[in-house]
Amino acid sequence: MSERKVALVTGCTEGGIGYQFCLKLLKRGYTVYATARSLKSMAALEHPAVKKHILDVTSDEQVKDIVQRIMKEEGRIDMLINNAGIPLAGALADIPAEDMSILFDVNVVALHRTARAVIPHMAKQKEGLIMNVGSIVGEIPTPWMGAYEASKAAVKVMTEVLSLECKPLNIRVMLLAPASVATQIYKSYKDFQLPDGSLYQKYLPNIRDRVAHGKVQKVTMSAERFADEVITKAVSKRPPYYLLLGGGSWLFRILCLLPRRLMLNIVWRRYSKLIPK
Ligand SMILES: NC(=O)c1ccc[n+]([C@@H]2O[C@H](COP(=O)([O-])OP(=O)(O)OC[C@H]3O[C@@H](n4cnc5c(N)ncnc54)[C@H](OP(=O)(O)O)[C@@H]3O)[C@@H](O)[C@H]2O)c1
Repeated sequence: MSERKVALVTGCTEGGIGYQFCLKLLKRGYTVYATARSLKSMAALEHPAVKKHILDVTSDEQVKDIVQRIMKEEGRIDMLINNAGIPLAGALADIPAEDMSILFDVNVVALHRTARAVIPHMAKQKEGLIMNVGSIVGEIPTPWMGAYEASKAAVKVMTEVLSLECKPLNIRVMLLAPASVATQIYKSYKDFQLPDGSLYQKYLPNIRDRVAHGKVQKVTMSAERFADEVITKAVSKRPPYYLLLGGGSWLFRILCLLPRRLMLNIVWRRYSKLIPK
């Protein structure tokens, strides 16, 4: 069995949070199985203790294969970071059911798939940490990103239950709720267009504003600093169950304290005020 601790990280494309998680784990002496949908997207991740593999988290077979490989090569798995995720912008009424299914498969079902693959091994070791990357918008939803926010709300509940059910197995489960972190996640929405026939034409500038929100704000936290703070806590003796971190976290902490309807009215006002095209 490897003497070094071993972590599996999903969604490690350069420029994103997962990539930075890998760098921070390497600094802490972990062997890191860095995964993404293409090896090219992790080309800059070069270190003797990093093992790069293709992993589409929606594939049962690929998930089983990578966990089997880790157990064969290292004999242990200490940490799983479920980081891979995709956004989906637009009014809920404009989003086709098929897109919704793809979104939930990547953002929710895949986290269950990878957790199920590692839990038997962690249970045998009588220790391990599973970190699920949710989002603060799973708790404080806004208009125009409802599908993504619903998927992150599902991540929150699933992670909470998993943390309870993993107690008897001595596996820790951590929910990460990033606020604003500077990455490329919304790059595909730079020129967001509404589908033909949308009832929300007059809100197009609002939707674009919502998608760019945080990325253009001075409050955005760098992915490097974000990952550093998260990994410091994750490798500590007592990793927190819940971590809200990133630019603008203070605002979300306040919104969480408000009566639900008041909070929803505030976010609706913020994202529906008509702005010129
Ligand atoms: N940035 C923020 O402000 C923020 C806020 C709240 C939550 N988050 C969450 O943080 C996580 C990381 O996001 P990020 O900001 O670092 O965005 P990102 O740079 O776009 O990273 C997302 C990663 O997920 C990967 N991915 C997408 N679909 C996949 C699939 N089917 N199988 C495997 N990998 C897949 C992407 O790979 P490709 O390069 O191949 O697409 C990419 O590596 C996500 O779960 C996101 O929802 C981010």
